[in-house]
Amino acid sequence: MPAAAIRLPPLGDVDPAEFLATTWQRRPRLIRNALPATALGDTLAIRDVLALARDPDVESRLVEAPDADGRRSWRMRRGPFTRLPSRRRPGWTVLVQGVDLHLAAGRALMDRYRFIPDARLDDLMISVATDGGGVGPHVDSYDVFLLQAHGQRRWRVAPPGGTTLLPDVPLRILADFRPTESWTLLPGDLLYVPPGWAHEGTAIGECMTCSIGFRAPSPLEWRQAFFAMLADADAATLAPGRAASQRYRDRQATPSPAPAQIPAHMLDTLRDWIRRFRLDDALITEYIGCYLTEPKPNVWFDGTDATGDDGPDAGRRIRRGLQLDRRTRMLYAGDAVFINGEACRPAPRARKLLQRLADQRALGAVDTGRAWQDPALRGRLQDWLANGWLHHADE
Ligand code: SIN
Ligand code: CO
Repeated sequence: MPAAAIRLPPLGDVDPAEFLATTWQRRPRLIRNALPATALGDTLAIRDVLALARDPDVESRLVEAPDADGRRSWRMRRGPFTRLPSRRRPGWTVLVQGVDLHLAAGRALMDRYRFIPDARLDDLMISVATDGGGVGPHVDSYDVFLLQAHGQRRWRVAPPGGTTLLPDVPLRILADFRPTESWTLLPGDLLYVPPGWAHEGTAIGECMTCSIGFRAPSPLEWRQAFFAMLADADAATLAPGRAASQRYRDRQATPSPAPAQIPAHMLDTLRDWIRRFRLDDALITEYIGCYLTEPKPNVWFDGTDATGDDGPDAGRRIRRGLQLDRRTRMLYAGDAVFINGEACRPAPRARKLLQRLADQRALGAVDTGRAWQDPALRGRLQDWLANGWLHHADE
């Protein structure tokens, strides 16, 4: 794990093992001083987040709360924003998605929460709000750590229950929110909210909140993704060992008295081709890994034409080690390794090195040197360097 992630415990005085045993996916929990406010505030500044909201490559939203006399209802607009409302004007909030993809400090913050498996980590969203700003009471289908980075925010939560939404508003806001607990979070405090619990955060003065979200696919989402991948699979995957030229053949050609009727033999054959199609566990696992490492739609990598490190300064670069690009998703299971939506099954020694790269998101100089001596692994790493999925350390 990167050094920064080890130095500071992610939940202050609370032991992650205790948190997982007593709290995770069970109940909300407030943790005061989860991270020193300075560690957060010094690395993630409000102006950096507002700058992201202006960037066309970044997903952002502006939400304006109803005004006090109720003349204006909730409003929502999608970014990028060439101009945001004045920071002196109360009641608005801008939410920036995927900050981990755009800022090294955002990725470093998310890395602190890797005591939850990477397969569950989704993204870091950051909101900046002026006094009274918020997105209204709502329910998320994800677990979320709400970490207060700057200023104060009042959070109220309610147990799972009614899901009726306010009509005619451009946001999913609960019509009937009956909070049972409330807290004011100060910089460095963290509130954990499990899926299904209603919650509402309201800025007290200007504030900034980091939401570390965890994804949990529904059976429908996973099946849709799975069957889409299956539809894209090549002939060899779908019919191993069968001639691609195989086609339906009539049993016997006799004049048809009912030309519109599907022949019984054709029905049998087509049914049989589906029934005999077996999805083995290795293929399903491969699709799970590809699905979980698929980059988000707005992510692309800056690849290079360089295929590798055979030039004169190759040794010096390799001695620095390797690190994954902050946008790269890399996981492993069994003998398979997955990276950015692709799967490979390396030989055992190479696999160990790749598993270490995935766990540490980096590979030290000694391991990189070892990897470079294995031509197949070296070729693979060179491809990933060229794709921009991987970099020489401190590049
Ligand atoms: C916010 O930061 O205003 C909203 C975060 C959330 O409720 O998940
Ligand atoms: Co929420």
